[in-house]
Amino acid sequence: MYDFEADPDQPKPALYRELLAAADALTAGEPDGVANMANLAALVWQLVPGLNWAGFYRMVEGELVLGPFCGKPACIRIPLGRGVCGTAAATGESQLVADVDAFPGHIACDAASRSELVVPVIRDGAVIAVIDCDSPRPARFDADDRAGFEALAALAAQRI
Ligand code: SME
Repeated sequence: MYDFEADPDQPKPALYRELLAAADALTAGEPDGVANMANLAALVWQLVPGLNWAGFYRMVEGELVLGPFCGKPACIRIPLGRGVCGTAAATGESQLVADVDAFPGHIACDAASRSELVVPVIRDGAVIAVIDCDSPRPARFDADDRAGFEALAALAAQRI
């Protein structure tokens, strides 16, 4: 049994330090990437407040394909450059979207989503996946969330 807990009201940098420590402990020594993505998605879902979707898209033969996640069933394949996820994958840059309706080409997987953060997972200079988080709250994500998820992505790059 794993029993990770974090105070959702603590300052975000502290919350993300706890998330990263838990993510490290949860995936250390486990070589199966799918298992690690599944546990990381579940951990984000449990520890990060205010999300309605959290999970992975993996780079498979030049397009993004849905990976382990928590939330409603989602679109399966996303071409590079399309939507928030495809933009993060194509550019290798995190996408912090305060209002998904204002993002050209945003792909609506859950009508409740109002804001979104997507960070690329980069290994040996190549984007191998993205971590996608959606929130029903407008402007849910800020620079602290971005930094926290980029640190998680750096860990994930070695564990998935
Ligand atoms: N909104 C994303 C699609 C994935 S879902 O949010 C899970 C996008 O525009 O790429």
